[in-house]
Amino acid sequence: MIDREGDMKTFHGWVLALLAILIATDARAQPAAAVMRDADPKIVGGWPSKPGSRPFQVALVHAGKPNNFDAQFCGGSVIGRNAVLTAAHCVQGKTAADIEILSGTDHLKIGGKRTGVVKIAVPERYDKATQDGDIAVITTKDPLLGRALALATEADELEHAPPGAAATVTGWGNTAPAGQNFPEMLLEVIVPIVSLDTCHQRYAGLKPPATVTPLMICAGYKRGGKDSCQGDSGGPLFVSTGKSFFQVGVVSWGIGCAAPENYGVYARVSRFRDWIYAQVGERCTKEEIDTGSCLQ
Ligand code: ARG
Repeated sequence: MIDREGDMKTFHGWVLALLAILIATDARAQPAAAVMRDADPKIVGGWPSKPGSRPFQVALVHAGKPNNFDAQFCGGSVIGRNAVLTAAHCVQGKTAADIEILSGTDHLKIGGKRTGVVKIAVPERYDKATQDGDIAVITTKDPLLGRALALATEADELEHAPPGAAATVTGWGNTAPAGQNFPEMLLEVIVPIVSLDTCHQRYAGLKPPATVTPLMICAGYKRGGKDSCQGDSGGPLFVSTGKSFFQVGVVSWGIGCAAPENYGVYARVSRFRDWIYAQVGERCTKEEIDTGSCLQ
């Protein structure tokens, strides 16, 4: 049971039953730790991204489904000419032939280009049970449209993403946590970074407890209301320095979406930066990323 307030129990029982059906019927990736939340308004507090303002956002789509909207199942970010960063749980059980990458659009029904996948890399320490190390690098057949997002170093993170700092998360994930309502337009929401301590204590105290590790970074409000959700997985959590953006997290899991104190949990990019760039054949320099020349 994820809820301890007595009068909510039967409702949660119902939600869990519904969830079982959703997991069985919904192709969108959903780790065991993620549970759909009870009633909450729209995308968990977000709004459409300004068109063209998130050129690093891509969608992971099922190769067999020609309609992008139907095919989208996770998010990702461009990190090199032919490289996408996403979540390990998004590619779990899939082969390169199962997935295509949609880049160059923020609308699932307009524009963009699909390319095939040649390689999927997941770190050895990825732990399915806890979602520790929920990171994957996808190498694409053709160059991607858009622009690469820089990955935060531990120093970048200390400086620009300490607890309390405003981070943005983008995605085409569910906007109706009590049911299913997937947007056509890319949405985003601003959430503050939460200390590992606060996040760990919250999740360790749940029944059953969930594990928050130092390879994860949390974001969200104590009162809830704004969060990423199912279908956003693999997408970027990033901070702005005024001049440029750094990716600090990869959407990974949460208990429900936007529930009070159930912060969104993200794979901590800075801890995987070296491994990630080692998978990317061609690395972009900071200057190339800042000037947008990396993909030209
Ligand atoms: N695991 C979800 C997915 O596959 C993302 C969950 C994020 N949840 C949250 N409350 N922030 O799309």
